[in-house]
Amino acid sequence: MNPMKHKVLITGAAKRIGRAIAEAFADAGNDVAIHYHTSHAEAEELQRLLQAKGVQAVLCQADLRVPEASKEILAQLSRQSFAPDLLINSASVYQRARLSDLAPEALAELYRINFFAPFELMQLFAKQAPPHSCIINLLDQRIAFPDPDAGGYAFAKQSLRDATLACALEWAPRLRVNAVAPGLVLSPPGVPPEKINPLLPQVPLQARTTEQDVANACLFLANAPAITGQILFVDGGLHLRGHSPETPLQRTK
Ligand SMILES: NC(=O)c1ccc[n+]([C@@H]2O[C@H](COP(=O)([O-])OP(=O)(O)OC[C@H]3O[C@@H](n4cnc5c(N)ncnc54)[C@H](OP(=O)(O)O)[C@@H]3O)[C@@H](O)[C@H]2O)c1
Repeated sequence: MNPMKHKVLITGAAKRIGRAIAEAFADAGNDVAIHYHTSHAEAEELQRLLQAKGVQAVLCQADLRVPEASKEILAQLSRQSFAPDLLINSASVYQRARLSDLAPEALAELYRINFFAPFELMQLFAKQAPPHSCIINLLDQRIAFPDPDAGGYAFAKQSLRDATLACALEWAPRLRVNAVAPGLVLSPPGVPPEKINPLLPQVPLQARTTEQDVANACLFLANAPAITGQILFVDGGLHLRGHSPETPLQRTK
C-alpha cells in the first residue's frame, strides 16, 4: 500500500534536522509548511527547493517565546489554505547549564520553547485537524536518564515526552501522537561540527546519527496507523548507556 500523502507542518524547519525532515517528506510527495523564526532566507530557499520537487511548500514565521505563537502559526497557514494533518514539533533551544547555576528566567525560556510552545501547538492542532491526523515530537535520547548538565532542556523534553504519551491516550482514536528521540546528530548551533567526533566511541553503534536517520523515523511514524504513544530512540543505542556523553558539547564563544 502506498503511504498516505500528508500536509505536514514542521516547526524550526529552515535548517539542520527540521530541514532534513522537510526535504524527506517532500521527496515522498507530501506538502510541507516550513515554520521558521529568524532563518528567513534559508526558509525561502528551502521553499523554492521543495516547490521544484513538485509539492506545495508554504512558509510561516513565529517566535515561539511569544504565548500566542501557536495561534499565529495556524492562522498564517489558514490564510494560505494549508490545513495540516501532520504536525512535527522540531524547533528547540539547547543549552548546557549546571542546575545550581540555572536562573529561573533561563529555565522559563527553555520551558517556553521546548515544552509550552509545542504543547500549545499540539492542543490547537488536535482541535482543528481531521480524523487520522498525527503528531510527532522531537525529543532527545537524554530523556532516558538524569542529565544535570542539560537541566532545563532535559526537563522540558521529559515534560514533552510525558505529554506525548498522555495525549496519545486522550486523543485516540482520532489522532496518533508519537515522538522521535535522536542521539548525537549535529553539534549545537555555534559549536564546531567536529566536536561531536570524540563522543562517538560512546555510541554503541559507533556512529553519528544522521539527519536522514531522524527524517526516516518521522516518515515511518507518519505512515504507521497502528502506532501511537511510541518514543522511537534514533541514537545508535546511546540511551542504553544510561549517562550523558562525557565530553560536554560546549559553545566555543
Ligand atoms: N542536534 C542534535 O544532535 C539533536 C540531538 C537530540 C535531539 N535533537 C532534537 O531535534 C530537534 C532538531 O534539532 P536541531 O539541532 O536541528 O535544532 P536547532 O538547530 O537547535 O533548532 C531548530 C530551530 O529551532 C528554531 N527556534 C529556536 N528558537 C526559536 C524560537 N524562539 N521561536 C521559533 N523557533 C525557534 C530555530 O529557527 P530559526 O533558525 O528560524 O530561528 C532553529 O533553526 C530539536 O527538537 C532537538 O531538541 C537534536
